[in-house]
Amino acid sequence: MANLATNYLGLNLKNPVIAGSSTLTFSIENIKTFSELGVGAIVLKSLFEEELASEANDFVSDFHPESYDYNLSDVSVLYGSKPYIDFVTKAKKVSNAPIIASVNCTGEKWWTDFAKSIEDAGADAIEINLSYMSFNPDEDPRKIEEKYFNTVTDIKSKIKIPVAVKIGHFFTNIPYMVKNLKNCGADGVTLFNRYYRVGINLDKKEYMPANVYSSADEAYSVLRWVAICSNLIDIDISASTGVHSPDIALQYIMAGAKTVQVVSKTYKNGVESIKEIIDGINFYLDKNNIENISDIYKEIKINNEVKRLERLQYMKIASNKLF
Ligand SMILES: Cc1cc2nc3c(=O)[nH]c(=O)nc-3n(C[C@H](O)[C@H](O)[C@H](O)COP(=O)(O)O)c2cc1C
Repeated sequence: MANLATNYLGLNLKNPVIAGSSTLTFSIENIKTFSELGVGAIVLKSLFEEELASEANDFVSDFHPESYDYNLSDVSVLYGSKPYIDFVTKAKKVSNAPIIASVNCTGEKWWTDFAKSIEDAGADAIEINLSYMSFNPDEDPRKIEEKYFNTVTDIKSKIKIPVAVKIGHFFTNIPYMVKNLKNCGADGVTLFNRYYRVGINLDKKEYMPANVYSSADEAYSVLRWVAICSNLIDIDISASTGVHSPDIALQYIMAGAKTVQVVSKTYKNGVESIKEIIDGINFYLDKNNIENISDIYKEIKINNEVKRLERLQYMKIASNKLF
């Protein structure tokens, strides 16, 4: 059987398949199950910055684009900092896989001190989900990017465990963001967060959540950036969005992702379905006589193909020549 072991954020993972952050990982029972199923790591449900801020009676006025969604799509997740720390400790006790704690924040203000407590509670790493969205046409985008960089610099000065930064893909220059997050000390990036989508209920004439769960074809817009960034920047990349089959997981890994994160599939098909991804990767490697997962990238030499990713629009679709 092939060797799926990989190193992500300096952690030794038995395979690259991670149970991504969601309300499913806010259950000790599910964490135990994910661990027994043999996942490479588990990212806990995020603690939202608002929860920390409201505890301190100083609720930030910025609207957060995600907290609404995640509270709405599952049971309400209103837990404060102490319960979160306790949860990290319990999760560590029941899991053989590394535990990556997660904080979802908009800026540099609230939670960087709290990160130290997460480290003390035994988390193996932290994933910071940085998702600031501006609704102010006068706000300079460079200032927003600075918030991201300051947050990472600050947290890295306070803790020793590895830090991954999860970002969305609404940036003018994604490789610039990834490069500078790395320069600020990020050990890895998670590409990408999938933001809350809004539709309109035509009968009620009100906004409603739309497509809460991803579909497999959403992976392809992420794959482009995984491939481009892995080629340009020496940083660990975890691919998140659309991992519904081993095929997509393998494509992400070939494109240069060190790990893949699975969420919607496990909502749709049950926690146990994550095993299909691990088994499918194993099957592919055995079938192709590839001994180590790390050889996939080298063997396929997808590197030489990267120029194709730079084409943004179809040019010759009529003659069936896309490249
Ligand atoms: C119901 C639900 C809750 C989520 N909660 C979080 C969260 O607390 N923190 C976070 O970083 N991402 C959260 N996510 C985003 C996922 O971790 C993941 O990035 C996204 O769903 C794309 O992966 P997928 O295509 O496998 O679903 C959540 C997603 C869903 C569907």
